[in-house]
Amino acid sequence: MERKQVLVSPEELEKQKHYINILKQRVSDLNLKYHIITYGCQMNVHDSEKLAGMLYEAGYQETDNEHEADLILFNTCCVRENAELRVYGNVGALKSRKQANPNMIIGVCGCMMQQKEVADYIASRFPFVDLIFGTHNLHRFPQLLLQAIDSNNTVVEVLDEQGSIVEHVPTKRAEGVSAWTTIMYGCNNFCSYCIVPYVRGRERSRRPEDILDEIRELGQKGYKEITLLGQNVNSYGKDTGNDYLFHDLLRDIDKLPGIERIRFMTSHPKDLSTGLIEAMADCDKVCEHLHLPIQAGSNRILKAMNRKYTREDYLRLVDRVRTAIPDIALTTDIIVGFPGETEKDFLDTLDIVKQVGYDSAFTFIYSPRTGTPAARLQDQTDSEVKKERLARLIELQNRISKDKNLKLLNSVTEILVEGPSKNNSEMLTGRTRTNKIVNFTGSKDLIGELVQVRIREAKSWSLEGEVVTQDE
Ligand code: 5AD
Ligand code: SF4
Repeated sequence: MERKQVLVSPEELEKQKHYINILKQRVSDLNLKYHIITYGCQMNVHDSEKLAGMLYEAGYQETDNEHEADLILFNTCCVRENAELRVYGNVGALKSRKQANPNMIIGVCGCMMQQKEVADYIASRFPFVDLIFGTHNLHRFPQLLLQAIDSNNTVVEVLDEQGSIVEHVPTKRAEGVSAWTTIMYGCNNFCSYCIVPYVRGRERSRRPEDILDEIRELGQKGYKEITLLGQNVNSYGKDTGNDYLFHDLLRDIDKLPGIERIRFMTSHPKDLSTGLIEAMADCDKVCEHLHLPIQAGSNRILKAMNRKYTREDYLRLVDRVRTAIPDIALTTDIIVGFPGETEKDFLDTLDIVKQVGYDSAFTFIYSPRTGTPAARLQDQTDSEVKKERLARLIELQNRISKDKNLKLLNSVTEILVEGPSKNNSEMLTGRTRTNKIVNFTGSKDLIGELVQVRIREAKSWSLEGEVVTQDE
């Protein structure tokens, strides 16, 4: 397979191993503990698993308790303003702890740091921060941490240029049945409201063989469910100049032993090809769930958002997906209050939500992001109007979600059991193939197993059920 770009850098991995070893010699007897605070999407959560993996290899132990941590790391998100404000508040709150314990290390990394003015602001506003780095050099964390330990000043390394992909970075995954794998980095779409292409760079796909090896190994370790991650997973492979695309990858993962369920997110409607719909229908392990962000229901706003489809295109796509996979669950992302959004535009959003009948939706108030084209538009929507629209949208979606869930009453469905339920430790929790949470009573031995559950109660956000015994 000929590649247009050589993206993988074994040298960087060798360097990383070298610095992990030095770090290990330095900290091994000290019993140091780390605490990572993660904001934002699953890609960030997965990046934190890599940060944790590097620390773990170097001899650090994880702690849930921020107050006993020797190293606190903030892995930040800049997609919306409220996540940014929380970072400023939480970093600022550590000032007195750092004064009391100067040996403690505070690091700030992730998407927010890829914006130069934000990294500069953190460095000047919070001089007690020891280390600042971005997303493109995450693999250099062990070396940067060593520098920070040895320096009295803030160590700052943020690269403008996306580097090569570094494979085999140690990863400390959450224990359980599900694992995440990033299959591609970056985004080429430049939706006019979105900061991601500026901070995560252009699309770079990992090599198929690296992804397949990783998932094969996860299957051997006992993981049953894999979620493939990327800002735009269904454009996987297009950057390589090869003809191995996302649907080819899905078909190859489907053949791997051990893995029972395959999920992926996020898909852009413009890249949802016939080949992908066919692969989803054909592959037994690919779950009947598609997260397909619509963002807005008005063609005028979709155009202003640079989404490259109309509501009619989207509805046709939904029809084709439902024809191929009749019981598929559809979920989406929606933004209210994009600049210039009128009441009529918003009613178009409510209308498409009704027409599609989503199983659930992530709903957001538009947040102007400096550097994006939409932030420069004059006609920003009033914040009270945005809040009021969001409330109406949520109210509608909750009703639809509940109706959809009510239709499942008394049906029997396969659940992958994840562990004890969050709200009631007497119960177990798991998900249907359509990604709905089901709580039910059952023995802890079932954790990690696929079980048949009869649905007995439906809420907007979850279902309750009971295990179906063999003789039923
Ligand atoms: N304001 C509000 N929501 C946004 N999203 C991305 N950028 C913004 C913004 N500036 C939402 C989109 C995207 C999700 C991950 O976050 O709906 O799909
Ligand atoms: Fe942002 Fe659009 Fe790329 Fe998604 S597809 S990350 S919304 S630019």
